[in-house]
Amino acid sequence: MHWTGNIARSAIALSLGAFTLFAGAPSAGAQSNTTATSEQDWWKNAVIYEIYPRSFQDTNNDGIGDLNGITQHLDYLQSLGVNAIWLSPIYPSPQVDFGYDISDYENIDPQYGTLADFDHLIAEANKRHIRVIMDMVMNHTSDKHKWFVESRSSRNNPYRDWYMWHDGKGETATSPGEPPNNWESDFGGSAWQWDPKTRQYYYHKFYAEQPDLNWNNPKVHEAFKQIIRFWLKRGVGGFRFDAITTLFEDPEMRDEEVLKDKNGNPILDAKGKPELNDTRTNNLPEVHPVMQEMRHVADEFDSNQFPGKRVLIGETYLPNIAELLKQYGPPGKPEFELPMDTQVGFINKLDVAAFRSRIDDAEHQLDGNIPLFVFDNHDNPRLDDRYGDDLHNIDIYRVISTILFASRGASLFYYGDAIGMKTTDPASKEDVKDPVGIRDWPRFKGRDGERTPMQWDNSANAGFTSASVKPWLPVPPQYHDVNVQVEEPNPDSLLSWYKDLIHLKESSPVLAVGDETMLDTGNNKVLSWMRQNPGSPAVIVSVNFTPAPQTVSLNLPGSPGANLTTLLKTPGESDPASLGAIELLPYGVYVGEVKP
Ligand code: GLC
Ligand code: CA
Repeated sequence: MHWTGNIARSAIALSLGAFTLFAGAPSAGAQSNTTATSEQDWWKNAVIYEIYPRSFQDTNNDGIGDLNGITQHLDYLQSLGVNAIWLSPIYPSPQVDFGYDISDYENIDPQYGTLADFDHLIAEANKRHIRVIMDMVMNHTSDKHKWFVESRSSRNNPYRDWYMWHDGKGETATSPGEPPNNWESDFGGSAWQWDPKTRQYYYHKFYAEQPDLNWNNPKVHEAFKQIIRFWLKRGVGGFRFDAITTLFEDPEMRDEEVLKDKNGNPILDAKGKPELNDTRTNNLPEVHPVMQEMRHVADEFDSNQFPGKRVLIGETYLPNIAELLKQYGPPGKPEFELPMDTQVGFINKLDVAAFRSRIDDAEHQLDGNIPLFVFDNHDNPRLDDRYGDDLHNIDIYRVISTILFASRGASLFYYGDAIGMKTTDPASKEDVKDPVGIRDWPRFKGRDGERTPMQWDNSANAGFTSASVKPWLPVPPQYHDVNVQVEEPNPDSLLSWYKDLIHLKESSPVLAVGDETMLDTGNNKVLSWMRQNPGSPAVIVSVNFTPAPQTVSLNLPGSPGANLTTLLKTPGESDPASLGAIELLPYGVYVGEVKP
């Protein structure tokens, strides 16, 4: 199941002098002195920050964030320790799905700026060792994309078979009849849209303004390879592949099955409609060769001449770890470097046993591949909504961020997390911008709540846009206390915690890549683990999942009663006397190095 609906409410350490990013062709001899291997491997412990550009910083006073706004805050991102930013789509778009409906894949939406602004962003980002990752939407285009405009113009247009056209059932001269089958859009309703001009239905997994491309057509593959090269030549550090598991559908067009409860009765949604399985329209195996092709293209740009792997990240909501493993590709046929592991971050409650077993799965069931943990994004309520209790939210965010950054792998987090921004749903239906929130109001208020403007300071509009401008979404009321300017100088703030934690991840070789072993595995109140690298002292981490103080006793084989050097702890917590007595405050965190 996808994120929608009720379930999931569910360095570049190269100087720019080392190579020219914009010339298209990488300059020869661009190899920087000593760091080629680590450049190549930058993604293995990457700290990736998702920016929703519309909500980050407005610089031209139209109430909508823009590329120059991102460039303006690169120093902030660098101080946070971010080494890649993923931008949700910035291409020209009618903005029905706020950029996920793309009408031109090789340009920038004028709302966000120009290609020159983009080149400037890349140049400035690279100076700060920050890579820019583009969102790549291959499942569908906008209905205003020229391919679809052509495709719908006549049944024998050369672009007709770039999309998924089918006859309806029982069509008559006066009526379109029924859709070809029972497939549903993730945003609700039939996934088939009748198009009167050519009297056929087209398929759309998402909004009707987002017709699905036909990935059985080799021309579609070629078109996207060119698009990917276009951005790689401009110097992007990789892509996040949107809704990638939905590229293919059952060629036999069989109906989706109705989900049944344990008594065999259909499971009904809030509107009383039967819920469907999605095995005919999601996670079909045909997607794997496509990703192998795309990986091949990315690797063209990944030589010693132009160091640093171009990373492929997948939006991969999958049912289990075995399905996630497949996303890395079979032996010799690599696919994603970093398919998102949504198993851990979307447990959506502080359940020690669940976290322990899912993190352990990522460590042991992914054949040594690198997991990419993620806890939230522009499609799901923020952390407060899914993990907070409103009394200890900041402490709980420390718990979550410690799992994110002190586990083995790459870490993906969302703008606003580091300062503790809260989900702020629209107050009334008239205020909703996300179409699904209008459609399903009030059962589902859409995704505006997690897309509100970034809170920079306590001036009017939180510094997102000037005081006289109405931001596209309202600034949450807490911005006076929850903002970068207030938190930056305070060593006990959440922002300082994020900085310290990320700095640890990047400076300690053990935390960067060391193996992870769960400790004290019978404990259902505190999650503890150890990170280890041959030849370095081990690091232990304990996080208290409860609102009461807890004491843990960790016994490491060979080091009974060993002493610890504190690396990081919740403000107010005392240094433990030894591994045998680590005292944690309510939702407290302790990170320490085992003294040899
Ligand atoms: C992904 C995006 C989401 C979008 C959908 C359709 O899930 O993250 O925002 O609505 O794909 O493109
Ligand atoms: Ca599709």
